[in-house]
Amino acid sequence: MNKDKFSVPQEELNKQKEYMNLVRTVITSRYPVEAPKAFVHTYGCQGNVADSEKILGMLSEMGYEFCQSPEEADLVLYNTCAIREHAEDRVFGNVGALKPIKKQRPDMIIALCGCMMQQQSVADRIKNSFSHVNLVFGTHVAYKLPEFMYRILCTGKRVFDITDSDGNIVEGLPVMREGTLRAWIPIMYGCNNFCSYCIVPYVRGRERSRDFDAVLNEVRDVVSAGYKEITLLGQNVNSYNKDLDEDKRFPALLKAISEIEGDFIVRFMTSHPRDCTKELLDVMASSDKIAKHLHLPFQSGNDRVLREMNRHYDREKYLSLIDYAYKVMPELSITSDVIVGFPGETYEEFCDTLSLIERVKYTSLFTFIFSARPGTKAYSMPDPISREEKGKWFKELTDLQEKIAGERTANMKGKTYRVLVEGTAKGEGMLSGRTGGNIIIEFPGDESLIGEFIDVTVTNPRTWIVYGEIAK
Ligand code: SAH
Ligand code: SF4
Ligand code: F3S
Repeated sequence: MNKDKFSVPQEELNKQKEYMNLVRTVITSRYPVEAPKAFVHTYGCQGNVADSEKILGMLSEMGYEFCQSPEEADLVLYNTCAIREHAEDRVFGNVGALKPIKKQRPDMIIALCGCMMQQQSVADRIKNSFSHVNLVFGTHVAYKLPEFMYRILCTGKRVFDITDSDGNIVEGLPVMREGTLRAWIPIMYGCNNFCSYCIVPYVRGRERSRDFDAVLNEVRDVVSAGYKEITLLGQNVNSYNKDLDEDKRFPALLKAISEIEGDFIVRFMTSHPRDCTKELLDVMASSDKIAKHLHLPFQSGNDRVLREMNRHYDREKYLSLIDYAYKVMPELSITSDVIVGFPGETYEEFCDTLSLIERVKYTSLFTFIFSARPGTKAYSMPDPISREEKGKWFKELTDLQEKIAGERTANMKGKTYRVLVEGTAKGEGMLSGRTGGNIIIEFPGDESLIGEFIDVTVTNPRTWIVYGEIAK
């Protein structure tokens, strides 16, 4: 892959840095007493969260401070998601709700970005029916936020830029991370898989990988800044640098990260079963620094449905990966995504999904009812099963998963786990942490332990929360 094709040139980034300074000058004269406040809300996946951390970084450089509600904000920015219709409806609802707030505070700037905005039909709808929105920008031009802000502040005119492209890689933007323990690090962007139901390839462009050393350096930086949990992000991390030599592909990257000195744990998502290899599972098994958690979305347990979904693996291949993973990591925690009611799916086919869940015994599942996304192949597939019927199937699936999750957590009783203490929990003197398998454990302990790895023994496992005590 030709990286230069995707890299945003340094001159362009320098230009944006100049705009950051210009915006800062404008707003310090416009808000002489107190810095203006921005309210940034993120919908969707961790990839969007990581994008928002760069948006926060840029806004901070421009002189903004941050607040917790739109009512107090001088700038409201929603970073949106297009994955399901419901996600989009929520955004339209929340943007509509800003109208009366803006009426009271006409100087407020309202900005919308992210995957949903990358769709022409959405941008048009905002343009025509939401006149209180000042700025709409798509996923490929997010790094131009300083320029957009400057134009709005100087002219007062609305700005719309949803330029489509294969996508880009932008290095060197300021990042303001949402916490002090967990760091999200994108290793690749976009997607080439075109699963027939999915909007992501249309709104995020082609698959492209960040430079191996750039990722390593960022991990080193966050580890030395004290971050304890690093999550590598991509729609399909297993195809990271897939056209380069083996020593630059995902298993090699994960291995190299696990060899960085320091007290931290590394996770990754999402793994696509199509490109997941035994070699990757071996690397996972080889280091205590790699969380024993694999998020491996299967979507459906039926081969015909998988083919219609364009997933490029079958039930057998999926299960052979799972069997190998459990063989090399018996304590592995596996999670997954599953779609109920894909167009044309029959009840018998859905039962294959249930039996796969029964066989794999997931720790937890992200379960979705199929949502038709305009522009995708599945949008126009005949879909005879009613929403009500799909709702029944969905309930059957979640009931089964609840039973399995309960059995899995019950098995944890009496065992001791290394836990990263993340904060306080409900109840006097209670702390909350997560195991490498991504299971939340609550236990009594002193707040000074927050941010540390400690051993916790499980005493009282419930289905969704497991209670324990600090190991003796
Ligand atoms: N790249 C990841 C998934 C990212 S989207 C992968 O391929 O595994 C997260 C999840 O949303 C998907 O795994 C899928 O289960 C769900 N999803 C995506 N499009 C959907 C749609 N149109 N309707 C319902 N669920 C959908
Ligand atoms: Fe969507 Fe499939 Fe790409 Fe995942 S792999 S983002 S489900 S197209
Ligand atoms: Fe949503 Fe875009 Fe992520 S569609 S799930 S925010 S890549």
